[in-house]
Amino acid sequence: MKNVLFAAAVCTFSFVLSAADVTLPAPEKKGGISLNEALNLRKTVRSYKADQLSAKQISQLFWSAFGVTRADGKRTAPTARNCQEITLYLLTAKGAWIYAPKKNQMVQVSSKDLRSVAGRYKAPAYIAIVSNRKLSGSTPRSLHFASMDVGYVSQNIYLAATAMKLGTCAIGQIVKPEVLERELKLTDSEKVLLVHSVGFPK
Ligand SMILES: Cc1cc2nc3c(=O)[nH]c(=O)nc-3n(C[C@H](O)[C@H](O)[C@H](O)COP(=O)(O)O)c2cc1C
Repeated sequence: MKNVLFAAAVCTFSFVLSAADVTLPAPEKKGGISLNEALNLRKTVRSYKADQLSAKQISQLFWSAFGVTRADGKRTAPTARNCQEITLYLLTAKGAWIYAPKKNQMVQVSSKDLRSVAGRYKAPAYIAIVSNRKLSGSTPRSLHFASMDVGYVSQNIYLAATAMKLGTCAIGQIVKPEVLERELKLTDSEKVLLVHSVGFPK
């Protein structure tokens, strides 16, 4: 297997950071630990080593979270009415990137380190989960569904991190959501609903 997910990655993400648009290595779509193992081992981790994630790990994590799985564009997580209103961002010491799932690319949106406005934990990376009301709808019921949709993505992150022997924490108490939203250049209809700190458990 098993080691498919943990296969030593050749390059670290910082290696490829010079380009604004980074094509990630292809994610593994087979293998990994069993679902039962992942469910049994899943837990929140808030303390991380300083080591950076590799490009392969970033690719695996984002594809697992909300990557494309089917020719019709459907994803690893369900969304109510297939609105697909969620966009993921990667935050590291070197900047912020938007995940473009169809091309399996990271497109840089900021060169600032935004991790401290996302969460209080010292982590090499954060994932920001952004929901767009223009796509989900903004009635109370639509927003209720949009929150649930974020939950599926969050659980995918937990299970993928577990399978890769990474640690993660879902964080609803975002430190400065309005600053994060401004720096990520979000539109008025887009909100950061949840972030995840990610890293190697200490
Ligand atoms: C929607 C949501 C928001 C959360 N927000 C935070 C948070 O702001 N800070 C934090 O340290 N943990 C946060 N957590 C993590 C929970 O505290 C954690 O899942 C819970 O204590 C159970 O632990 P476990 O994940 O190890 O089972 C959040 C979890 C969820 C699902």
